[in-house]
Amino acid sequence: MDKRIRACASLRGEITPPGDKSISHRAIILNSIAEGRARIDNLCPGADCQCTIACLQALGVGIKGPEPLGSPQAIEVLGVGRGGLREAPNTLDAGNSATTMRLLAGLLAAQPFLSIITGDDSLRSRPMERLIQPLRLMGAEIWGRQDDSLAPLAIRGGRLRGITYALPVPSAQLKSALLLAGLWAQGDTVLEESAPSRDHSERLLQAMGAKMEVDDGRIAIAPVSAPLMSLDLRIPGDISAAAYWLVAGAIHPDAQIKVTGCGINPTRTGIIDVLRAMGANLKVENQRMEGGEPVADLLLKSGDLIATKIDAQIIPRLIDEIPVIAVAASMARGTTVIEDAAELRVKETDRIRTTVDELSKLGIRVEELPEGMVIHGEGRLRGAEVDSHHDHRLAMALAVAALVAEGETVVRNAEAVDMSYPAFWQELEKLGQQ
Ligand code: S3P
Repeated sequence: MDKRIRACASLRGEITPPGDKSISHRAIILNSIAEGRARIDNLCPGADCQCTIACLQALGVGIKGPEPLGSPQAIEVLGVGRGGLREAPNTLDAGNSATTMRLLAGLLAAQPFLSIITGDDSLRSRPMERLIQPLRLMGAEIWGRQDDSLAPLAIRGGRLRGITYALPVPSAQLKSALLLAGLWAQGDTVLEESAPSRDHSERLLQAMGAKMEVDDGRIAIAPVSAPLMSLDLRIPGDISAAAYWLVAGAIHPDAQIKVTGCGINPTRTGIIDVLRAMGANLKVENQRMEGGEPVADLLLKSGDLIATKIDAQIIPRLIDEIPVIAVAASMARGTTVIEDAAELRVKETDRIRTTVDELSKLGIRVEELPEGMVIHGEGRLRGAEVDSHHDHRLAMALAVAALVAEGETVVRNAEAVDMSYPAFWQELEKLGQQ
């Protein structure tokens, strides 16, 4: 599908972002292995979370929804408790979702049966040795294609032992996979991370009864003696989805946007810090807690932006927002440098390459670095034909750029937004019309 976008005179309105994708995956998985019935509201409607649901159903978990529950984003999970998962009758399909594949691989490494998990072309090219290596240290039997580096993964689950392990990359997917493996291992599992990655698993695990200690980059989980307790929760709005509206508001000359019910977990708010450092007119109001996570309303008004520098310590707190941050930088005064972002090369696409290529087509002066990019802010974008490369975050970042470009922009493969934010194009239209 192609989307045609023209700059609009003003951007005004209120947006409620979809439920957070990362928290949604974790809420489904952890409630599946807990004991009891849990209702999850405001689940992320994207295809990625549907893959997690389908995989767990294939493993014997009863998941109902949305129709009988009266809300389009509500599901009910009937947890199977410890030892309740069953060997799936077929290969598990994680689609485009690395969170599904990696978290489930950690969980399945401890289940006494065989699992094979695969994904689409993009997911089958993403690194899995980072997961296979520590799981093997825990005693897991797990294999992958190409010398155990790529999916499909084959896992013969069994007894695991806890390990102490320094994560080679600050990856929340890897951390969460090892915590799930550690739940039923013998002895504690202790993980060390060099920069803080999202901590939704830690929060949920603790709320459901797991014994954990989290302290300054060291995360320890003790094996559980009793089953996890199921947990009803409402998923906060996804700050990674809100980021497109925040940047749109910051770069458009006549914008006033309110994003309501947005998660502001400090491990995710790098986008807020960066926009503030760039001088954006951004207010955080009405802070509260929802589902064990901090939530707020965010208000964004037009303003002048200045360039900034982004490097290692903040990268995990804004990793998914870098394509749209590059768009903000293109409208800022000065040159923005993004470094230490090698992880971007192994996302749904090589996001350094695809962001640089596609933003260049819009007339932005942007240079590729081995682990980042340099963006020269000139403030004049030209409409062009650009491609999402089937990457949802790139599709949305390009749409935001189109809002301030001269003439028409065509975004090819625009349906990629369905992975995390199926209502994105409708919301965009609404904002431009008010
Ligand atoms: C995610 C972690 C991040 C992020 C991804 C979602 C998660 O990936 O990019 O979109 O839910 O744990 P890494 O763990 O590979 O950094």
